[in-house]
Amino acid sequence: MDRPVTTPEIRVGMLGCGTVGSAVARMLDEHGEDIERRAGVRLRITRVAVRDASASRTAPLPRDAYTTDAWSVVRDPDVDVVLELIGGIEPARELLTDALRAGKPVVTANKELLANAGTELFDAADAAERDIRFEAAVAGGIPLIAPLRESLAGERLERVLGIVNGTTNYILTRMSEHGSTFADALAEAQRLGYAETDPTADVDGSDAAAKCAILASIAFHTRVVSGDVFREGIAGVMPQDIADASRLGYVVKLLAIAELQDGEVAARVHPAMIPASHPLASVRDAFNAVFVEGGRIGQLMFYGRGAGGDPTAASVVGDLVAVARNVAFGGRAIGWTSVLDRPIRSMNHSTGQYYLNLHVEDRPGVLAEIAEAFGRNGVSIERVWQEGFGEEATLVFITHRAREGAFQAAVAELRGLPSVRDVASMLRVEGEE
Ligand SMILES: NC(=O)c1ccc[n+]([C@@H]2O[C@H](COP(=O)([O-])OP(=O)(O)OC[C@H]3O[C@@H](n4cnc5c(N)ncnc54)[C@H](OP(=O)(O)O)[C@@H]3O)[C@@H](O)[C@H]2O)c1
Repeated sequence: MDRPVTTPEIRVGMLGCGTVGSAVARMLDEHGEDIERRAGVRLRITRVAVRDASASRTAPLPRDAYTTDAWSVVRDPDVDVVLELIGGIEPARELLTDALRAGKPVVTANKELLANAGTELFDAADAAERDIRFEAAVAGGIPLIAPLRESLAGERLERVLGIVNGTTNYILTRMSEHGSTFADALAEAQRLGYAETDPTADVDGSDAAAKCAILASIAFHTRVVSGDVFREGIAGVMPQDIADASRLGYVVKLLAIAELQDGEVAARVHPAMIPASHPLASVRDAFNAVFVEGGRIGQLMFYGRGAGGDPTAASVVGDLVAVARNVAFGGRAIGWTSVLDRPIRSMNHSTGQYYLNLHVEDRPGVLAEIAEAFGRNGVSIERVWQEGFGEEATLVFITHRAREGAFQAAVAELRGLPSVRDVASMLRVEGEE
């Protein structure tokens, strides 16, 4: 089919040309004609900002497109859309705010920026009546943001439960399936390129917390920032925890959880036991998945690759097409819907279920003492059983839903009981209901 001569060309100014930026450039180069036929717009990267303009690049772009002056790209009158793939908060925040103020729609993959300065950017986008899209910021290659914001615009979401960090999921999969220690599994992840040389942001849960903040903001139409998200990483997950979980029919995952509890938003990232029958339990290695629950839809799951140049570029190019169509033909996508001012529930007041493994004295009355300590703190027990005898005696508990603060107070009291030798293992339990 001949291309209509009138196909509008949208000129993209790209900030950053690393893993994702070069994959975007390749995708537009290889699929440009398909995009033009399908979407009715032609996308061309005309300017590119990088740190080192003389470095050799794999992106199929002309040498004279590169500059080290990102401001000159944003302010170039011949740039229609700004694509930010630098990462980090500054200078990305200032550059995108400037672009929006100049009336240019923006696309970004930057979760850190959105989870910390999202409101400011969305305000700038609203004031300028321009689009800001960020499909790649959460779960890289999985179409998730557009389904939540657009396809599910009529739904009231109740809960979002996700595996949104591939590095930690890979590490926990190795620990579960190969009996590796945390340190060995991390070293393997680094060898395979799944973990950075400095894996802190993955391991301590801060990468997942940023994504959790974005998901909570979108799902519950309120403002949630990274600092609102309770965070506990995976460095403390012991082989014993994994073995216990497996023996009881659970799998340990690092989960990002955002839910409405009595009208308040509870957002948290921590390792948790989920039943082996839960759809998230089968998400292995570096894959990501997000499980969404709503009053009308019931349950939905989004699954795929959460990172990597090519999968992430697919999300970015989808955003570019949507934005470019609006530039060419008019219109605007749904803007920032975080218009409600829902309170953030502190972790102490959040509710959940818990698994607890206690080494105890093996004598009559011990179970009653422990049950009383739970009862005094308002924690009720769903299941309890004893394993081993004498010196080896262990009591294993799964609680009903309880307030985190109440559970922690009960554990503190249990540690002080003479009949409790040791708190061997303690994990939150999710996905039971
Ligand atoms: N990689 C993934 O799988 C993935 C997945 C989802 C989302 N993301 C997000 O996508 C974004 C980009 O990630 P990436 O992996 O492509 O990063 P990257 O490989 O480190 O690339 C960053 C690029 O930004 C350029 N840059 C950095 N600071 C700059 C500045 N001040 N001015 C101009 N250019 C600058 C760098 O230039 P030089 O090339 O000259 O150093 C490089 O080209 C991040 O927000 C990341 O969180 C990445």
